[in-house]
Amino acid sequence: MYRDEALLREYYSSSPGDITLDDVDVNHLPSHVSIIMDGNGRWAQARGLDRSKGHVAGVDALRETVTTSVRLGLDALSVYAFSTENWRRPQREVDLLMHLFATTLVKELPLFHQENVRLRFLGDLEALPKKTYDVFCQGLDETADHTGMTFALAVNYGSRAEMTRAARLIAQEVSAGALSIDDVDESAIASRLYTAGLPDPELLIRTSGELRLSNYLLWQLAYTEFYVTDMMWPDFDRWEMLRAIRAFQGRNRRFGGVVNQ
Ligand code: IPE
Ligand code: IPE
Ligand code: MG
Repeated sequence: MYRDEALLREYYSSSPGDITLDDVDVNHLPSHVSIIMDGNGRWAQARGLDRSKGHVAGVDALRETVTTSVRLGLDALSVYAFSTENWRRPQREVDLLMHLFATTLVKELPLFHQENVRLRFLGDLEALPKKTYDVFCQGLDETADHTGMTFALAVNYGSRAEMTRAARLIAQEVSAGALSIDDVDESAIASRLYTAGLPDPELLIRTSGELRLSNYLLWQLAYTEFYVTDMMWPDFDRWEMLRAIRAFQGRNRRFGGVVNQ
């Protein structure tokens, strides 16, 4: 993916001290980074604020992360914004999140145009409130021809629901005679997931220190490297992204094989 080296240097010019751009090899970046954006509520509560303020602050962190990913030249960034289990939250919080998704997307569309970012969604959008659904469709339409980074937003996403859906689609096609059982292989499943066509993430970041997947990309993360930071999502910035990439580049990825035989 295209990267403007001078712009990237400038973007990373004021180092916080423990890391600089030179600590990562920009020619071997993960092509797809995925993030479980967690800790908005705790970030707010620690400041004596309502949880909703944490979600609003989380939007700023996400905007910076999209820009960071574009500057670095990643092929894809995906983020977990709302799970199939998050409907269990108080109605007021659910309503606020749905409203925030819609208003933020409208506000940020110019950024996607400017940065040539192509938007896609992971999850069952039909269950979303109409306003949010309509704005998402508009975002998809308006960025469909963009050729830069893919930004995938997981909303009403659950990995088990995604795999169940894929199994149903396959069963329907088999029973209609459109697909033979012999053709039901890993690629047949992968192509019926919401992530169809996206490479599997190479790096998964989870903020707020939780050591679990919370029903996120169970299939796609089979060989992904994990980076868990104690930082709450609203504090995540371009430097923490760099720390995650530095950790990733220090890993020895074996994919079940043996290295240095
Ligand atoms: C992540 O932050 C955002 C969403 C799940 C929508 P949380 O809202 O889960 O924040 P914590 O984990 O309660 O601190
Ligand atoms: C995971 O965070 C979902 C998103 C970040 C959207 P949660 O806060 O919902 O996860 P749990 O409940 O701590 O596992
Ligand atoms: Mg949480």
